[in-house]
Amino acid sequence: MLTRAAAVLACRIAASFLAALGLLGFSIYRVVLTEQHNQVRHQLEFQLGYGNPEQIMPCQWLFVITDGRTSGAATAPEGLPLASAVAAARDGTPPRQTSWAADGTVYEVLTVRHGDTVRQAVVDTWYQRADLDHLVRALVLVGLFGVGAATVVGAEVGRRSIAPLGDALARQRRFVADASHELRTPLTRLHTRAQLLLRRPAEQVPEPLAEELGALVRAAGELNELAEDLLVSAALHDDPERSRVVDLAALARQAADAERPRLDDRTLEVDIAEDWVTADSACAFPVHGAASPLRRMITILLDNAIGHTEQGGRISLRIRSADRNMVELEVADDGSGFDQADSERIFERFAQSGHQGPHRFGLGLALAREIAADHGGVIRAESRPGMGATFTVCLPAAKAAVKVTADAQTSY
Ligand SMILES: Nc1ncnc2c1ncn2[C@@H]1O[C@H](COP(=O)(O)OP(=O)(O)O)[C@@H](O)[C@H]1O
Ligand SMILES: [Mg+2]
Repeated sequence: MLTRAAAVLACRIAASFLAALGLLGFSIYRVVLTEQHNQVRHQLEFQLGYGNPEQIMPCQWLFVITDGRTSGAATAPEGLPLASAVAAARDGTPPRQTSWAADGTVYEVLTVRHGDTVRQAVVDTWYQRADLDHLVRALVLVGLFGVGAATVVGAEVGRRSIAPLGDALARQRRFVADASHELRTPLTRLHTRAQLLLRRPAEQVPEPLAEELGALVRAAGELNELAEDLLVSAALHDDPERSRVVDLAALARQAADAERPRLDDRTLEVDIAEDWVTADSACAFPVHGAASPLRRMITILLDNAIGHTEQGGRISLRIRSADRNMVELEVADDGSGFDQADSERIFERFAQSGHQGPHRFGLGLALAREIAADHGGVIRAESRPGMGATFTVCLPAAKAAVKVTADAQTSY
């Protein structure tokens, strides 16, 4: 997120610089163009007023046409004087500057009539155009260089301005990780002591007290889990083991075994597809990641399934390869379920579906999604009220798996 913010900042700085440069370049171009135009106009008017047709001037000519005789044409380029402009002036058209393109250049022509005499001044604008051409090239070159420099400067400014924010976030994450780590020990102690008290003989713990103790055990357990979730969430991005290859199937078995004591009369079926193998056959469902958060993600899903399934209900944990590059983990139950309209909302922090249950903290699924996303995967939920719920996690496989067919034992 911070990297993206820095990149956006860099792009904005570069874009602002480019816009400013573009505006400056356009203004320079306009000023030079207007100046050149005025200069040509002055040259033409000067020639008409004070010029001598016999005097040779570079890139300028003056023609005086009297009674069909033209003076000044000896050194002029072919086609000049411009007969059409001379004829128009004779017919009484007021003096008007015209452009005439020939021989790869453009001549500016101004013609006036005084009685029987027509005077025509011509200026070749080749040099002005060449200057303009050079100016445009220089502006484009400066623009390209400027944009490159602005991108580098923008990236550096972005990096520097985001750095304190990154530090603050890292400090905050470290604080949450430390605080939840410190909280875990006393919470576990509290949970264990409350459990021990609850197990005392009935004469030591009378019924109303036992009920209160039961509630205390549940609340301490939930607090314990919350501290664990906070710790996993805070440590997720800094985990040095997050790029290891771990076997999702092994983690799923461990998580399922850890949850079994809580099942009571519910059944938990673990189904790990055995017809997929990877080239080294060490594990069929290898994913890049850290074992602890991935195991926590599976535990969160199992814990929810158990919590929302009545006694006698069925829970299943399946792992299979969606295709050779994707591992799919599915936790399904036949419990209370939730409205499909809530299937995105329940992944928000502290969100709960419409189902009225005991007070929960609602951090689990948000963390499960965070863990899945951190491992390059996705998690989705499907359910209908009273019809159970299915949570599916798709993670990219660390090694491509191959399906073993019945006739070919192993085919890579
Ligand atoms: N297996 C499930 N069956 C029915 N509802 C579920 C299931 N899993 C999650 N939910 C709904 O999603 C909500 C959020 O779950 P979660 O983030 O784990 O928080 P918590 O379990 O602490 O409420 C739950 O409160 C519940 O309403
Ligand atoms: Mg939960």
